[in-house]
Amino acid sequence: MVNPKLPPGYLLTVHDKVDSTNAEARRRAEDGAPDGTMIQGITQTEGRGRRGRRWESPRGNLYMSLILKPDCSVVRGLSITFVSAIAMYEALASIVPPMVEISVKWPNDILVNERKVAGILLESSSDYNGRLRWLVLGVGVNVKSFPEGTEYPATSLNFEGATSTDATEVLCSFARHFKRWLNMWMDEGFPVIRTAWLQRAAYLGKPIEVRLPNERFSGRFLDIDERGCLIVEVKNGDNRSVSVGDIFPPEIR
Ligand code: BTN
Repeated sequence: MVNPKLPPGYLLTVHDKVDSTNAEARRRAEDGAPDGTMIQGITQTEGRGRRGRRWESPRGNLYMSLILKPDCSVVRGLSITFVSAIAMYEALASIVPPMVEISVKWPNDILVNERKVAGILLESSSDYNGRLRWLVLGVGVNVKSFPEGTEYPATSLNFEGATSTDATEVLCSFARHFKRWLNMWMDEGFPVIRTAWLQRAAYLGKPIEVRLPNERFSGRFLDIDERGCLIVEVKNGDNRSVSVGDIFPPEIR
C-alpha cells in the first residue's frame, strides 16, 4: 500500500486481523521479502511481548513490524532496538502535550509520565558466521487504550492528551524518525545512538530493581555499555552487567 506520509523505502501491507505482525514479518522475511517491508495489523490475535509475554491487541492501537536487512553481525544488528526507541520517543514527543514527560526505559520501552506507552520486540535470524540474515522490529503503541494490571503500569496516548490518536499517523511519524536515526547508526555506529538514548533514559543514576527470570536485585542504574547491556552498581560497589531483564523503580513492587 502506498501511504504518502511514509518516507521512500518502506513497503506497507495492512491486515485487518493477523496472528502477530512479528510472526507474519518473520514468514515474509523467510520468503525473501526485502528490507523495508512493513506489516501493520489493525488487531492481533496472538500478539507477543518480550520474554514470552502476551501483548493485548485491541483495535485502535498500533501494531507494526518492519523487516530490516543491514549487512552486519547479529550482535551489532540487535543494537537497532535503541535506534527504534529513540525514533519512537521523537515521534511521540511531537504529539503529546508539551509538559508531558517522555523517556526510554531499558531495554526497549517508551514511557509517558512514567507509564509504559510503547514496547519494542526485536527478532533475528543469522547465518553460521553470526552474520544477520534479517531482523524483525516489532512495535506496539497504546494509542487509544492500555491494559490494566500489568507488572509495569501502562498508559495510552489518548489518556495522556495526545493531539493525534490515529495509529497510522503514529506509524508514519515513527517511520520518518526511524529512517533518520538508522542512517545515523549506519554512518556513525552505536556510540552516537548510545549517547542519544542515555539523554532520554528513565531512572539513569537512580535506584532500580532488576528483575531477571530467576533473580531480583537492587542497585543504581549507572550506564549502558557498547553493546547496550545495562550496568548496575550494586551494594558492595561492584558493577553488574545485564543483557536480558526488566528494570523497575523501587516504588513498584
Ligand atoms: C514488549 O514490550 O514486551 C514488546 C511488545 C511488542 C509488541 C509488538 S505489537 C507488534 C509486534 N507484533 C507482535 O506480536 N509483537 C510486536
